[in-house]
Amino acid sequence: MVSNRNTASSRRLHLNAVIYGLGSHEAAWRMPESDPYASMTLDYWIDIAKRAEMSGFDALFLGDVLALQDEADKHLSSAMDPLVLLSALAAVTTQIGLIGTASTTFDHPFHLARRFGSLDHISKGRAGWNIVTSSNELEAHNFGLASMPDHQERYARADDVVTAVKALWQSWEVNARLADKINGRYFDNAAVHQVDHTGPYVRTRGPLNIPRPPQGHPVLAQAGSSPAGKAFAARHADIVFTVQSSLDEARTFYAEMKRLAAECGRNPGHLLVMPGIIPITASTKKHAEDRINAMNSFAVPEHLMAKLSSFLGRDLSGLALDAPFPTELLNAKGSQASRSRVDALLGIARRDRLSLRQLLMRLASGRGHLLAVGTGSDIASIMEEWFETGAADGFNVMCPVMPRDLQIFSELVIPELEKRGIRGPKSSDMLRERLGLPVI
Ligand SMILES: Cc1cc2nc3c(=O)[nH]c(=O)nc-3n(C[C@H](O)[C@H](O)[C@H](O)COP(=O)(O)O)c2cc1C
Repeated sequence: MVSNRNTASSRRLHLNAVIYGLGSHEAAWRMPESDPYASMTLDYWIDIAKRAEMSGFDALFLGDVLALQDEADKHLSSAMDPLVLLSALAAVTTQIGLIGTASTTFDHPFHLARRFGSLDHISKGRAGWNIVTSSNELEAHNFGLASMPDHQERYARADDVVTAVKALWQSWEVNARLADKINGRYFDNAAVHQVDHTGPYVRTRGPLNIPRPPQGHPVLAQAGSSPAGKAFAARHADIVFTVQSSLDEARTFYAEMKRLAAECGRNPGHLLVMPGIIPITASTKKHAEDRINAMNSFAVPEHLMAKLSSFLGRDLSGLALDAPFPTELLNAKGSQASRSRVDALLGIARRDRLSLRQLLMRLASGRGHLLAVGTGSDIASIMEEWFETGAADGFNVMCPVMPRDLQIFSELVIPELEKRGIRGPKSSDMLRERLGLPVI
């Protein structure tokens, strides 16, 4: 491929290790090598964090949904509170970024600012917050609401909450802590400020009760895919996560996000676009294909059918598994909560002319993300092309079965990326600096 070295030389391909319970594949927990109880033990998470750190991943990323999920996702529900886990992992790692998910709909800005600020302090500047508005009705029920606030309102609230959180992080000036033993002054009162945030949804007086986080603002990630979500990401996020499976569409999304960031008066280079990739890697392409077939053989079609039916808002149980997926359903629109996921999946079904069974397996293995099956070199070539041709600044690496596929990715793909000169040396253990983002 044609290499765009003049930009690549100053850019580093970033890698987030995304850990969903026992792996991103629906059937991860049923694989012969998996211990289905492991993800409720701290040892499991420590092992993964250390492997990812040793392999040079820039960050670990833990998602979160505040409800017990449906049958196909139940194994993900043994994922504990991300902030609790990441705090424990901060103690046993020194370099890897620690990005956790928290909701602007269900958490108060004071809690959010304090928790992520605390994580930033104990990890010496490695914290990140994946900002979600939450979208699942089950989450609403867990917090006493009859239903979720609508999409527009959730984003309006998210804007208000994030503005308040940033103000709280800034409530301590950089050198506010004097620790002046001689004169008995711990901090300079004049450098610690009330924030008096009074927004449409949240209020907080401040100041925060911990000093300014080492990074200023812990790194902010978001995954907006609706117009409101993209506008929010362009305004607030350092990293935007996205679901893309076609290079052309990924380039369009990338260009749009950079343009929106510029329109907000930001340096577009300071909004990093990171699509997800599901790597199925082995020493030969045939072995990689055998591996995905083995994983798919453990997926339960009825669970996947229920999940796809709920995504599409239609009961699919009467459809023949091996007939082509009905054309009229290919143009379905998901509910507000699942629209981007539905668009991504149906786009793949149209492009690859999938039967219902194949679509269910695509849901099990790829969830609409880029599914890359092949050798380390095959997968590195795909990542290089996306990186060099304006589709990605890095990737959310979603290994299907943990920790095995993380180890295989580290052994087979990362050295290939290094050979191609796109990983470069890391600049700092502080996450912002490592990602080339300004300390605020
Ligand atoms: C990689 C990735 C990770 C996500 N993680 C979570 C998560 O942990 N919890 C959650 O509630 N939503 C999560 N989402 C959903 C997004 O926050 C967002 O709601 C979705 O992309 C739809 O965008 P929209 O809200 O702009 O319509 C994730 C999305 C992506 C692409």
